[in-house]
Amino acid sequence: MCGIVGYLGKKEAAPILFEALKKLEYRGYDSYGFATSDGSKIWLDKSTGKISETKPKELPGKIGIAHTRWATHGGVTAENAHPHTDCNGEIVVVHNGIIENYQELRKELLDKGHEFKSETDTEIIPHLIEEYMKENDFATSVVKTLNRLEGSFAVAIVNVKANKMTVARKGSPLVLGIGKDEYFVASDIPAFLEHTKQVMYLHDGDIVTFDGGIEVFSTLEGKKVERKIDTVAWDAEQAMKGEFEHYMLKEISEQADVIKRAISQDSKEIMDIARQINEAKGIFLVACGTASYACTSASYFFSKVAGKHINVVLGSEFPYYKHFLTPKTLVIAVSQSGETADTLESVRVAKEAGARVISLVNVMGSTLMRESDQHLLLNAGPEIGVASTKVYTAMLVVLYLLAYATIGKFDEGRKKIRRLYLDVYKLTSATMRKNIKALAEKIKSRDHLFLLGRGHQYPTAEEAALKVKEISYIHAESFAGGELKHGPIALIEKGTPAIFFVSPDNEKEIISNASEIKARGGFVVGVGSKNNEVFDFWIKTPEAGDLNPILQIIPMQLLAYELAVLRGCNPDMPRNLAKSVTVK
Ligand code: M6R
Repeated sequence: MCGIVGYLGKKEAAPILFEALKKLEYRGYDSYGFATSDGSKIWLDKSTGKISETKPKELPGKIGIAHTRWATHGGVTAENAHPHTDCNGEIVVVHNGIIENYQELRKELLDKGHEFKSETDTEIIPHLIEEYMKENDFATSVVKTLNRLEGSFAVAIVNVKANKMTVARKGSPLVLGIGKDEYFVASDIPAFLEHTKQVMYLHDGDIVTFDGGIEVFSTLEGKKVERKIDTVAWDAEQAMKGEFEHYMLKEISEQADVIKRAISQDSKEIMDIARQINEAKGIFLVACGTASYACTSASYFFSKVAGKHINVVLGSEFPYYKHFLTPKTLVIAVSQSGETADTLESVRVAKEAGARVISLVNVMGSTLMRESDQHLLLNAGPEIGVASTKVYTAMLVVLYLLAYATIGKFDEGRKKIRRLYLDVYKLTSATMRKNIKALAEKIKSRDHLFLLGRGHQYPTAEEAALKVKEISYIHAESFAGGELKHGPIALIEKGTPAIFFVSPDNEKEIISNASEIKARGGFVVGVGSKNNEVFDFWIKTPEAGDLNPILQIIPMQLLAYELAVLRGCNPDMPRNLAKSVTVK
């Protein structure tokens, strides 16, 4: 949560920071702030609201930092917005993460006479540096301060007098962009992608001080280190909205290409992971949110296509399963960002038990990628919309490919998935969008929406419900079709919308469930290849058998999008949410 960015170079920092911060807004959007230094003083601008709804301010200086906030400690006010300064306004800090011991540090600093302007945990950082600088130089003071912090942080710190910037990370993401005579630092690559593709991924505990160039690169323990420069495969266009009104719509529309890229995996790598799946004694798929539904979908697929049992466990619940872990267990962690705290915690628990960890991840250089024994990139390109869409599809594709590979059918599987390209393209077309908009008009004012599927269609219902609720704020709940009669049917009233996902192997049963809802006055929507008299509204999707989940989720992503727009919600920035959930 929260996005931070920093610049140091020969250009004016403020306009660069402004554009960069807009690209990080998906990480938090309740307030924002900038600080630049012209060597004599700090120029500050902080406000509540969204950066995308404001204009850049002129702040002088060629060095600066900025922050977009997702509040944790302290309400949404301009005072609580970052950057935060020390008492003298000489040290200024932006921070992503949580300082768990901030209360005791704040008390210690208050006792020493420091004055605080905000209620945040972050503000203790500049004050602690100021305190240490009474007897130490800036660099030493920063190291001493960071070593006192418990919790997680990615920080960018500017010292006005020295005209220096120091950045560091522990538990929260931070990446450097290396340009010509200029440096960028950001929570995520899209922030500076239009300036450079040369990146340096910071490891946990890394501290970098800039003074024209990189002056010191060390760890929190004071050990000098070197990190290599990588070139990012993403380009600036991919991280832009282009002609689309929202990132979410753009990302939904990109899914045909996402499939193409997701299947261009190195076959040797896939076969190697498939072998490990076959040899492991106990396999866990671990993930959160949308990624967890991709895993559930894959578990049905593995079961049917490969006759293999895979346990799916939520990242936040996985630590409670540690008693089942042995060095023969294989844990496959799945994540778009690779920074989700609960998923990372699971990986650490698994590694402690000696289990092997493989990750499927979209963001190159992410913490998950680095902490895993082996990784596979999902290749979906940057996903900016808070609601995950194209990466869900990429996850399904890669997991299904792995299932095919475990039974020696990698090529055959790849061919089958490749054939979906045109179908996916059509499902994301303007015609489909128009059709879905008509459905959205019918249900936009309802308070509840139910989504039902059986077998392989159940995780699709779960993912569709998450999409609808997180961006349109309609209460959307998914059920396995068979569970309806065990309680949920009591919720059905006249006109209650219920969406059913139909596939040949569960058609009869799910249509019976649809009839039960219809008989009680519900408004029945069917998603599948065949119309049925029980449907009040039919969304036609091509018949792809076991691969139906890849197709059937797409109209649901569109439905969530259209519902959000019709209800006046911004689908890219749902309330209370942020793209990467880096807190537990
Ligand atoms: O980056 P990750 O895939 O690990 O994120 C997991 C969830 O936080 C994420 O899928 C979340 O549920 C999205 N808002 C869903 O659209």
